[in-house]
Amino acid sequence: MNDMTPNRDERVANLKGLGCKRKRVEDARFTQGKGNYVDDIKLPGMLFGDFVRSPYAHARIKSINAEAALALPGVIAVLTAKDLEPLGLHWMPTLAGDKQMVLADGKVLFQGQEVAFVVASDRYVAADAIELVEVEYDDLPVITDPFKALEDGATVLREDIADKKEGAHGPRRHPNHIFLWEEGDKAATEEVVSSADVVAEEMVYYHRTHPCPLETCGCVASMDKINGKLTLYGTFQAPHVVRTVASLLSGIDEHNIRVVSPDIGGGFGNKVGVYPGYVCSIVASIVTGKPVKWIEDRMDNLMATAFARDYWMQGKIAATKEGKITGLWCHVTADHGAFDACADPTKYPAGFFHICTGSYDIPVAYVGVDGVYTNKAPGGVAYRCSFRVTEAAYFIERMIEILAQKLGMDAAELRRINFIKKEQFPYHSALGWEYDSGDYHTAWDKALEAVDYKGLRREQAERLEAFKRGETRKLMGVGLTFFTEIVGAGPVKNCDILGMGMFDSCEIRIHPTGSAIARLGTISQGQGHATTFAQILASEIGISADKITVEEGDTDTAPYGLGTYGSRSTPVAGAATALAGRKIRAKAQMIAAYLLEVHDDDLEWDVDRFVVKGAPERFKTMAEIAYASYNQAIPGLEPGLEAVSYYDPPNMTYPFGAYICVMDVDVDTGVADIRQFYALDDCGTRINPMVIEGQVHGGLTEALAIAMGQEIAYDEMGNVKTGTLMDFFLPTAWETPNYVTDHTETPSPHHPIGAKGVGESPNVGGVPAFSNAVHDAFRAFGLKQSHMPHDHWRIWKTANSLGLHG
Ligand code: CDP
Repeated sequence: MNDMTPNRDERVANLKGLGCKRKRVEDARFTQGKGNYVDDIKLPGMLFGDFVRSPYAHARIKSINAEAALALPGVIAVLTAKDLEPLGLHWMPTLAGDKQMVLADGKVLFQGQEVAFVVASDRYVAADAIELVEVEYDDLPVITDPFKALEDGATVLREDIADKKEGAHGPRRHPNHIFLWEEGDKAATEEVVSSADVVAEEMVYYHRTHPCPLETCGCVASMDKINGKLTLYGTFQAPHVVRTVASLLSGIDEHNIRVVSPDIGGGFGNKVGVYPGYVCSIVASIVTGKPVKWIEDRMDNLMATAFARDYWMQGKIAATKEGKITGLWCHVTADHGAFDACADPTKYPAGFFHICTGSYDIPVAYVGVDGVYTNKAPGGVAYRCSFRVTEAAYFIERMIEILAQKLGMDAAELRRINFIKKEQFPYHSALGWEYDSGDYHTAWDKALEAVDYKGLRREQAERLEAFKRGETRKLMGVGLTFFTEIVGAGPVKNCDILGMGMFDSCEIRIHPTGSAIARLGTISQGQGHATTFAQILASEIGISADKITVEEGDTDTAPYGLGTYGSRSTPVAGAATALAGRKIRAKAQMIAAYLLEVHDDDLEWDVDRFVVKGAPERFKTMAEIAYASYNQAIPGLEPGLEAVSYYDPPNMTYPFGAYICVMDVDVDTGVADIRQFYALDDCGTRINPMVIEGQVHGGLTEALAIAMGQEIAYDEMGNVKTGTLMDFFLPTAWETPNYVTDHTETPSPHHPIGAKGVGESPNVGGVPAFSNAVHDAFRAFGLKQSHMPHDHWRIWKTANSLGLHG
């Protein structure tokens, strides 16, 4: 030891492990335009594919004539359903147990549906050629309203299954009905509701929206006919699952398929599903023997892939006169579009919607969800959300506000008296979940104090008086939300995607000179996994995060994993990383014991080394142990230092948060100014506070978009009215308010490092906070429910309907 030897605190700091605000290692390449996205991939001889899409929402196809397109120089092929049929690929299975047309087979069911796939020598020729494909349509009656779809005599949309009385999730009661899924005790809940002191009842609609990542979906399929290997590069949030599906569909053995997710420019659920573009590119590459690239344009992306939400939620919440909630009843009419392609674990056709009892100790509850076909795009995805938890949080947080209004109670107090108490965890909800840990009262008190809640209410009352006296045209709204999330699917026994259990994985190799590579089954789309997973490992194995490479997204090298969505990376792959690290440490301990000539049990771990108990000067660092593992013959041990862990989580994790939004609403212009937004998140052990803050800022901005303007809207003919970024609201820095972030830290008892997910929390909790603020501004005038998005026009109309325009 000399003065230059780092002391213990310095050694801890050098690790850049758990809790360190380490700068994101990915950002150097992203901020300098050096990312490698799928459209950057250029292979020799590569062809380009593009879709002829349907202008109609519902029509029979009379004929497709590709002659003129094929005559265009550079056009190689035009594929239609007839070409795919002999291969059995004109339809494909969906993640939800339904099937979906790859290319229109006899009819189209939504505007923008894929009708033919043109393959050409370059992108521009392909785009010109799709204009030359002549398709004759006979239009059919269109249904965009899920309630009308279930009426007697409604036009049958899915003629292919019109007579099937049984679907993937049980009986179907109408040709346009997909399933009825129920959870909870219906009879007991109805009994409580019918005899309660107070019942608040409302229809809460969460409109159809879209994840709209900056990078659209796309792929490059490259079939090497010599060695029989198919390589598929793409924007895949679950590369291994894509490989398995590609193998099952194509008949190519899985070892002969390599799926690579390069850098991904945002996913948010949009890139979980399997789209016709992938299937057609693979077929085109097999047929032509050349690589084929398909990249969506923005309109394709908004119109045809992966909508989110579209839930009509009828609720009844029962309570005593004092405000103690006694029961919750909910029925959802879920608009799934033309095919049930929702991305949910098989057992859960409504995802985790039954987390809708929220943060409250509700003794009895019932949920029923009817899935319905309409002439809209398929693919309901969890837009920065864990399988419908966002809909659930919005529902319960609106119902709480409506109940508070009915009781004439303060909504913050109503929440407080109904919260699940700290000592009730692990808490078993009436709808079957086991919440792992929480301390809601502490978080709530901290949040209310931080914003001076009482002061805000005083100011609001004064503003109201001033408004009534005609001194201002602005009302003030205080939007409260307390949400509980459910993230980290598995466990395998409950959750699967197309039969693959939802575990995740990490494989670690320590190099002789004491650096390492960790490969995971997840794939970052901007969340910073290369930064944070290295931090988990640094704390586990005592090697600085700066010396650990994290690699994801290549199925030839990464262990099998179920991918990244629903904030599952930290709860599942993060746990696998910690456990694989512990395996490394266990072997390292045996090596150190041999080198120090002591028994394993005589050693203790100290930051980055094993030390002989009671003799601190005798130790072996991880760097020394790593070297020894490769250059010394150690009796009874294999050379090398590697480990792999496949982690099946025993439960999900339940992060939570308290969000408060303060806004001024101008009743004459409908403009809502968000002047304060406070977000307290509890995601258990915090790996990297700076990354968490970034996740919260991004998620809140998406929530702002959804609550205040973002929508996939259809007219009665099934035309998409918001198919471009001129119409689909994507906030910029201009619209984005300042956010104040805060936290409490309640570790998960079952996660190896106590971490819960966080990525989607701000979207889940943000939407009700913004929406509740709008509602709260008008509460004094009796507004119960006005549907999102709260754009200026809708706010103006609300003010008008309440008689505030004189
Ligand atoms: O699955 P996804 O990556 O979208 O979500 P996540 O697991 O919530 O992680 C998002 C980012 O936040 C990752 O870089 C995590 O490592 C980081 N995070 C953290 O630093 N601490 C937590 N307790 C949870 C997530």
